Amino acid sequence: MTDVLSRYEAALTGLADKGLLRHLPHPNTAGLLDFSGNDYMGLAHRPELVDAAIKAGRKYGAGSTGSRLLSGNTPAHEAFETRIAADKGTETALVFSSGYQTNAACIAALLDKHTLGAEPLVFADKLNHASMHLGCTLAEAHQLRYRHLDLNHLEELLRKHAGEDRPRVILSESVFGMDGDRADVAALQDLAVRHGALLYVDEAHATGVFGPHGYGLCEAVELAPTTVAMGTMSKALGVSGGYVACSRIVRDYLINKSGGFIFSTAPSPLVVAAALRAWELLPGLDAERRGLLARAERLRAGLRDMGLNPGASTTHIVPVILGTPERAMAAKDALAARDILTSAVRPPTVPQGTSRLRLGLSAAHTDEDISRLLAALAGL
Ligand SMILES: Cc1ncc(COP(=O)(O)O)c(C=O)c1O
Repeated sequence: MTDVLSRYEAALTGLADKGLLRHLPHPNTAGLLDFSGNDYMGLAHRPELVDAAIKAGRKYGAGSTGSRLLSGNTPAHEAFETRIAADKGTETALVFSSGYQTNAACIAALLDKHTLGAEPLVFADKLNHASMHLGCTLAEAHQLRYRHLDLNHLEELLRKHAGEDRPRVILSESVFGMDGDRADVAALQDLAVRHGALLYVDEAHATGVFGPHGYGLCEAVELAPTTVAMGTMSKALGVSGGYVACSRIVRDYLINKSGGFIFSTAPSPLVVAAALRAWELLPGLDAERRGLLARAERLRAGLRDMGLNPGASTTHIVPVILGTPERAMAAKDALAARDILTSAVRPPTVPQGTSRLRLGLSAAHTDEDISRLLAALAGL
């Protein structure tokens, strides 16, 4: 027993030696200026969401009481799924308790080699989120990783394996959470269809911010039945949870074969009703989206003017790539000393040599907030 604990302790010491030890931050009870969150549309504190949760709680209870397949299916879950499918242009949708769970549970099931009759060829963007990797690991699927956003490289790999009689699956985020750059979803889907591949797109960071009505980069694309659009309720929707928008066959398959769906209690009706309310608000937030993206552009220009590197960001997520974990931590601490909260992101979350501050902008930030942030960054 002691030996096990000493090994954990040694692992922690090893992380600390490399500047990679993680700590929970202090709760932000002092109302500090916060660029460390993902509440991109500033909805987490909107009274409408809280009221929707209270109303649903009174009607359906605080908890769902079981798996959707047992006692956990409420009209709140079904209403939200109907709305997601309608707005994403898919036949159906299915909700989960977290985005991480959604990816792990869905990808594991979709890559199942017993169902597919052979080990699938999995083509994955190099910078996909950890939860997508977990889905692949659970399915024991080897990933053929293409250079970040490089669809020529993806096509090269698809062609290279064209002769193999194995099912094909492409995995990508649409807005990448650590870099704030975007995939061309229409081109990805085109490639997928031409090569007979299933396309799985994670819209965690695009939902709420992009798309004609704010429903993500997939919203502007007529989705093929072989495209699965995943998203989260935890970021711009301001609540928690995840979903997939997909064909009826995929939904029925997940309901029957995804362990993470079958063996987990359904999300609370409080959460689902609040997320649905946020979803309903999105089309009315065009002005907020424009303001958010304009402030992100101003921040990037300001960073470049002072010689700092915002990478390839074109969205509301703006990294400041600093290199070493020590530089990233020092920058975070210096900003914290000025009452500004940011995230320092280090390997293995991002590649070696690209440790960074990750600045998550929100529609609730003001021009003055950006000025304050830039002034603080200038002092680094
Ligand atoms: C791209 C991506 N997918 C999925 C997730 C997991 O979502 P959740 O936080 O809702 O579990 C995250 C979380 O940061 C993410 O960045």
